[in-house]
Amino acid sequence: MELLEVRGLCKRFGGLQATYEVDLTVREGTAHSIIGPNGAGKSTLLNLLIGLIRPDSGTVMLAGTSLLGRRPHEINQLGVARVFQTPSVFPDMSLLDNVTIAALAARDGDFRFNLFQHPSRRRDAVAAAEDALLEVGLDAVADVSADDLSHGDKRRLELAICLAHRPRLLLLDEPTQGMSQLETQSTVELLRRLVAKGMTKVIIEHDMKVVFGLSDEITVLHQGCVIATGEPDAVRHDEAVLEAYLGGVEL
Ligand SMILES: Nc1ncnc2c1ncn2[C@@H]1O[C@H](COP(=O)(O)OP(=O)(O)O)[C@@H](O)[C@H]1O
Ligand SMILES: [Mg+2]
Repeated sequence: MELLEVRGLCKRFGGLQATYEVDLTVREGTAHSIIGPNGAGKSTLLNLLIGLIRPDSGTVMLAGTSLLGRRPHEINQLGVARVFQTPSVFPDMSLLDNVTIAALAARDGDFRFNLFQHPSRRRDAVAAAEDALLEVGLDAVADVSADDLSHGDKRRLELAICLAHRPRLLLLDEPTQGMSQLETQSTVELLRRLVAKGMTKVIIEHDMKVVFGLSDEITVLHQGCVIATGEPDAVRHDEAVLEAYLGGVEL
C-alpha cells in the first residue's frame, strides 16, 4: 500500500526553482532514499512534507489524507516525524526527560501538553521513552543532561525523540552528518534494525554505500527535478543518473 503520495510538488524561492513537479510514492513498510547533489532540493522536499514550508503547487497525501496547508504539529500528529539536519533538543534536561516530553506530546498534541499530567499517564510516557532510548542505544546515559552528549549522540537522541512519537512515517535528513566513523556505523545498524521492523522511512543520505545497502527504493533529485526513481539496481545503471553524477560520486 502507498503510505505517501506526492504529486507535482513545486517550490520556488525567489528566482530559484528548488523543487519542480516532484512526484514521490513511498510504500508502507519500505525504506525510500532521496539522493542528489548538494542544492538538489532534498531538504526542501522534506520541509514541504512536514509543513515547514508551503508548496506553490502540487499535492501531498498521507494514507489518503491531504497534508497540504496543515501546520507542522498537525502533520506530526498524523504520524510524520522528522529527524532534522541539526539536532534540536532541550540541552539542560536529561535524555529521559527530553524523550518523555516527546512521548507525552505525541499522545496529547504539543498544544495541549502540560507537565502536570495524571501520574499513570506520565508513567506510560516514561516507559515509551525508556524503550526509545534503548532502541537507539542511549539507555545507559538516560539521566545525563542532553548538553553533555557528543554531536553523534545528540543526533541519536533526536532519533529517540522521533521514535517516541511512534511515527507511521519517519523522515531522516542526513542522519549521519557530522558523526564519527564509529557513530556512523552504529547509526547505520540502527537504521537497518528499523528497516527490518518495517517502519516506513524516507532517508536523505550522502553515503552511497549506506543508501544502496539500505533502500528498497531510491529517488534521484537533480536541480529540483526527479531524474530517476526505482529499485537500487535500476537506479545504479540509469543513464540520467550516471550523467548527473559524472565525475562525482561512484555509485
Ligand atoms: N528558505 C530558503 N530560502 C531561499 N532559498 C532556499 C531556502 N531553502 C533552500 N533554498 C535553496 O534551494 C536549493 C535547494 O536547497 P536544499 O533543498 O537545501 O538542497 P539539498 O538538501 O538537496 O542540498 C538551494 O539552492 C538552496 O540554497
Ligand atoms: Mg539538505
